This record gives sequence, structure tokens and C-alpha cells, in this order.
Amino acid sequence: MNFTLHHKDSQTKARVGSLETEHGVIQTPIFMPVGTAGSVKAVHQRELKEDVKAQIILGNTYHLFLRPGLSIIEQAGGLHKFNGWDRPILTDSGGYQVFSLAENRKITEEGVVFKSHIDGSKQQFTPENVMDIQRTIGADIIMAFDECTPYPCEWPYAKKSMDLTHRWLKRCIKRFDETSGRYGYEQHLFPIVQGSVYKDLRTESAEFVAEQGRVGNAIGGLSVGEPAELMYEMTEWVTAILPEDRPRYLMGVGTPANVLECIALGVDMFDCVMPTRNARNGMLFTTEGIINIRNEKWKDDFSAIDLGFENEVSNFYTKAYLRHLTIAKEMLAAQIASIHNLSFYLWLVGQAREHIQSGDFPQWKRHMVEKVSRRR
Ligand code: GUN
Repeated sequence: MNFTLHHKDSQTKARVGSLETEHGVIQTPIFMPVGTAGSVKAVHQRELKEDVKAQIILGNTYHLFLRPGLSIIEQAGGLHKFNGWDRPILTDSGGYQVFSLAENRKITEEGVVFKSHIDGSKQQFTPENVMDIQRTIGADIIMAFDECTPYPCEWPYAKKSMDLTHRWLKRCIKRFDETSGRYGYEQHLFPIVQGSVYKDLRTESAEFVAEQGRVGNAIGGLSVGEPAELMYEMTEWVTAILPEDRPRYLMGVGTPANVLECIALGVDMFDCVMPTRNARNGMLFTTEGIINIRNEKWKDDFSAIDLGFENEVSNFYTKAYLRHLTIAKEMLAAQIASIHNLSFYLWLVGQAREHIQSGDFPQWKRHMVEKVSRRR
């Protein structure tokens, strides 16, 4: 996997690059739509390519392992063949579920025992079997098994958890390096920096991760309820330590403004459920700000959802129509809103790339953050 830096902004730490995988090239900075169970909710694969212009999507180890299960994915020839998405895929490791399933799991040195949210059965994830599972799923980029700590989190727990994540990382790397891709293309393992909101721990973790010399690195344990300023502070702290010549992936972030701010801090890759999950609740991210399409004020607004960028879906359907679909609980509402929100995120990171290249990124970002954060 080759990562080439094409341009660095002179005033911020923003950069433009390209990441080559065997399923295609990813232009960075990039936003990756979340396809937890092998599908980006309410958006099918042709729309993801042609409307959203997604370059890479995410899958989740925990969900895919429970359903449909590895046997089916293996019989299909891997996730790309199973879901018909022939561009790059990244799978998260299940480390986030260690956080989100806090009530239904037990952490030990060996790994995590958790209760399936589907049938209540007990399952175990270890660094080794999480590598094997992600080998079978067959994503281009796979994530190390970690513990995503909550916020707030006391220093002693954050330290203990980080040390465990580091020991797990060593085991992940060993297993990953002893095995190979099962479907004829290479996979790549990204380690994850933890350390909660503590600079000393973040330093230790970022140095540990950097020492492993992997092709890309991730920052975890953020966007878990801490104030945005604290997330920026930690991100800036960590990107300063992670190697400059490798992609940096900030996990689970964020709003359009969060994405722009963190691009300026040297982040190259992002994922978040926000554009799709919020779309299903009627929240739209637009070039003019954030709107709740359920609001009465849109009932007779026959203007397009968004004319601020070129997109068939956003330019074509009206706010009044989308409001009607949403109130009437029509399935098309989720489809239109999800395609719009994702297209907007992909447009936004594309604009960021252009402005980094053309040299006016800081001014453009300031103006854009203000515009896209407005509530209308
Ligand atoms: N998604 C968002 N944050 C995290 C994290 O800290 N770890 C993992 N594995 N996934 C995440």
C-alpha cells in the first residue's frame, strides 16, 4: 500500500495525498461512509458510487461476525464479492463495541467476552481471532483490536486500558504478520492510539504505535462525549507524533466542522455514522447549515434540498417533498436524506483537498466551518 503526499498546507498541518490499495486509489483527506453490516444504511452500492462518490466504505467485524457469520462471507469469496462493492473497504475491529456494549461484555487479558445483541449468545474476541476474522472478511484495511475508553475516564483506568491495548496490539501484529490475505490481494493493519484525554498517555501511545512501523495509523478513544476543544487538543497532540509519511485515521469523527478542523490538524481519514444516522432522523447537513427537515417551516418550501454543490439528488428533490416523506415515514425519506448527507460530506472533503492544493485552505476552512455549523 503506497501513500503519497502531494501537497502540504503552509499554514496548517493539512495535507493532500493518495492511498493506493488493490481495490483502487483513495484521495485524502477522505470521509468513509459507515456500512456496519455490509451495507451503508438506505444507500445501495451504485448510488454510493455514482451519487455519493464514495471511495472507500467501512464494515464492522462485530456485526459481520454475528450476522451473516464468517462461513457465508467466506463462501461468497469475501465481503467485496458478497456485497458487490469493488472499491476499498476498511473494517473496524470490534474495539468500539467494547465501549458501546459496556453492559454486556467482560474484559480480560486474553480478550473480551461479550453477549450477542442478536441472540444473547456468549462470544469471545481476542486479538488473534479478530485478525483471523478480518482476514476472512477481507477488507483492504483492518484495525487492531483495542479498548475504546469512555469519557470521562480516570487516569489510572486510562493507563491500565492503554497498556492492555498495547499488549493486544503486539498480539494483533504477530498474528497478522503470520497470516496472509485469503482472496489474492494484500490487507493492511492499522494500529490505534488510545490514552483518553491525557497528554502523557497520548504521547506514550502515539510513540508506541509509531514504533510499530505500520503503513497507516489510527487515533481512537475520541468523540466519545468529550468537548470538541478537548478532541482537537488530543488530535493535534497525537498527529504531531505519528509519522508524517503515513495516513492518519481519526476514528468516529464527526460533524462537518469537526472534520474540517481535524483536517487542519493533519488527519487524512474519517468515518462517522452521523451523516447516515442523523439523515434517518431528519437532520440534514447542507452548504447553508444544519436543518431539521421535520420542521413545519419547510412544509411549503419548494426549493431544492441543496444547490450549493452539484448532486442529482440534493439538487432535484425539494425540502417540502422530503419533509412530507419524512413525516409520512416513507422509506424514500431515509434514502434521499442519506444520499444527500453522504454526498455533502464527500463534497466537503473534496473541496478541502482542492483548497489545500490551491493554497487558501485556512481562509476557506474558517468561512466553511461558520457556514456549515449554522442552524437553519
Ligand atoms: N471507533 C471510534 N472510536 C474507536 C476506537 O477508539 N476504537 C475502535 N476500534 N473503533 C473506534
